[in-house]
Amino acid sequence: MCGIIGYVGSEGGDDALGVLIDGLSQLEYRGYDSAGVALADGGIDVHKRQGELSALQSALALEQFDGDTIGIGHTRWSTHGPPSDANAHPHTDADDRVAVVHNGIIENYQALRDELAAAGVEFESDTDTEVVPHLISQQLDAGVSNEAAFRAAISRLEGSYAIAAVFEGADTVYAARNESPLVLGVADDGRFLASDVPAFIEYTDRVIYLEDGEFARLTADEHVVIDGEGAPVETTIETISWDPEDAGKSGYDHYMIKEINEQPAALRECFRGRLDELTGRVDVPELEGLDPSGTVTFVACGTSYHAAMVGVRLLQERGVPAQAFIASEFTTDTLPIDSESLVIGVTQSGETADTMRAIREANGVGATTVAVTNVVGSSAARETDHVFYIRAGPEISVAATKTFASQQAALTMLATALSGERSRDLVTDLRAVPDQIQSVLDSSNAREIAEHYHDADAAFFIGRGYHYPVALEGALKMKEITYSHAEGFAAGELKHGPLALVTENTPVFAVVTGDGRLAEKTIGNVKEVEARGTPVVAVTDGQSDIERYADHVLSVPATSNVASSIVANVQLQLVAYWTATILGRSIDKPRNLAKSVTVE
Ligand code: F6R
Repeated sequence: MCGIIGYVGSEGGDDALGVLIDGLSQLEYRGYDSAGVALADGGIDVHKRQGELSALQSALALEQFDGDTIGIGHTRWSTHGPPSDANAHPHTDADDRVAVVHNGIIENYQALRDELAAAGVEFESDTDTEVVPHLISQQLDAGVSNEAAFRAAISRLEGSYAIAAVFEGADTVYAARNESPLVLGVADDGRFLASDVPAFIEYTDRVIYLEDGEFARLTADEHVVIDGEGAPVETTIETISWDPEDAGKSGYDHYMIKEINEQPAALRECFRGRLDELTGRVDVPELEGLDPSGTVTFVACGTSYHAAMVGVRLLQERGVPAQAFIASEFTTDTLPIDSESLVIGVTQSGETADTMRAIREANGVGATTVAVTNVVGSSAARETDHVFYIRAGPEISVAATKTFASQQAALTMLATALSGERSRDLVTDLRAVPDQIQSVLDSSNAREIAEHYHDADAAFFIGRGYHYPVALEGALKMKEITYSHAEGFAAGELKHGPLALVTENTPVFAVVTGDGRLAEKTIGNVKEVEARGTPVVAVTDGQSDIERYADHVLSVPATSNVASSIVANVQLQLVAYWTATILGRSIDKPRNLAKSVTVE
C-alpha cells in the first residue's frame, strides 16, 4: 500500500508543492519508506528521499521554488525493492519527459522489464513501477500524444494500480485506476487526485470516486473521466460530510476498525498472482527450493504465534511434520535444530526482538530460515534465506487485525506450496474469503453482543482444530484493547480446570463451523458450559445445531476449515472492538503496549 496525490491549479492559485506535501502528510499512514514529488511547470523536476516525509521536507527546504501549479507526489510502502532514494517514486523515463507515481502491484512487471531491457532501456530502480514511464516513453518516441501514450502503456499492465503521470511542458495530470483506490477532487481553481480523500479535504470536499478500468484527465478547470475504450463516463460529484480531523482514518473513528474493514482488500493483495484456479496450484516463487523433509519449525510471538499455530496444522494435515514455538521460548541450545532444519519466523513487523533472536540462533546453526512478514526490508526480511511477504499494507493500530488474516492466508499458501499439493477446491475457497469477510463486516451483530456483555467479569473463548488459535486470538484481542480478563482455550481443555471459572457473568464464545467430528465435540463442551448457567455466544455457519445451546449467534458464511477460521476471527475482532469502544478505551494505542516490540 502506497499513497499517491496529483494536483493541477490555475495560475496564481495554490502552490503545487505545498498542496502535494500537505496531501502526503495525510497519506503517510499508507506507508512511509520514502516520499517524493515531481513538479511539472515546464520541465520535470523530481525530488525524492528515503525515509519519512520529513526527510523530503528537509531536503526541499534547501531549494528555491517559484509557485509551480502542477505536480504529483507519492509516499511509499515498499513491495519491490527495499526503501531507498532510487526506489522512491516518482519514476521517470530516461529523458525526463514523463514522471509517474503508482500504488499497487504490477504482476507482469518482470516480463515488461525484460522486454524493455532488451530494447536498450536502463533501469534505475528495483520497482515494478519503473516500467510505466519507459513504456510511455516508447509510445512518445512513436509520435503519439501524451494521452494516447499514457493509455497505451496502461493497457499493457496486469495487476493493481492507481497511477498518475505528468508530462514535460503540459498542463495536464493523467490518471488510471484498477483495484487500487483513486479519488478525484474538484475545486473552483484546481483539480486533485489521491489515494484517499484526506489528502485534499483541506482544499475541497467535492469528490468523484474512479472505478476500475477508468482513466482521468485533469486540468485546472476541467476533469474528464473516460472508460477503457476511450468513451466519456458520466460522473457524479459527491460531497464529503466527515470532518477533516478524521483524516488518515478515512472517516473511521479508529485505525483498528479501519484495518478490520481493510481485510477483504488486504487478502486480495495477498493472493494476487499466487493462486491458480485452473491447476489448483499455489505459485510462490519466493519459496522455491525449500525442502520440508524434516520437521518444519515456526517461531513467532503474540498474534503471529497464533498464525504460526495455524501453519502447523496446515502442514501436519498435508503430511509434513511441524511445530511452533513462542519465539522467546525457542533456543537451539536444547532443540535439535541444525543445518537440515527449516525454521520459519512469522512476524508482521519483521522487527520483533524475540523472533529475531530465534531466527538468528537458527541461522547460527546453519538452518534454512524463512520470514513470513509484512514489511519489506525489515530485519526479518534481510536476515533470512527466503522471504514471503503477506502484503497486508501498513497496520497502524497496535492490535494486529488485518495482518493476522493475511498471515493465515499466506501460511495456507505456504503449506500448500511446500507440500506440493494441488487443490482447486482450496484455491476456490481462498478466493471466496474476501467476499465472505465483507458479508460479515456488512451484517455483523457484534456491537449488540458487546453491549450485552461489556461489563462481564471475564470472557472465555473456545475452539478446536483451526478454531483453537482463533479462540486464543479472540481472547488476546479482548484483553489487549478492553483491559478485561479474557482467556482462550482448546475447547476440550475447559473441563480439565478452567470450567471452575465459568459463572452467569462470564460469557463463553464458542467457534463452531461445519457439522463434522470437531463441531460435535465442541458442542459437547458447550453443553457442559450451558448446564452451569453460563451464557454462550456461538460463532457459527449454521451447519451444526450449536444454535440450540447458544444465547447469541454471530453468523459466518459456510466454507472450508482453514478459510472458515479466517472469516470467524473477524466476528471476534469486532466484538473486542465494540466492547473497547463502549468502555471508552484507548483503542489504537492500548496502555502499556507498543506496535513493534524491539526488546527481549
Ligand atoms: C497483538 C499483537 C502482538 C504481535 C506480537 C508480534 O495484537 O499485535 O501480539 O502480534 O508483538 O509482533 P510481530 O508480528 O510484529 O512480530
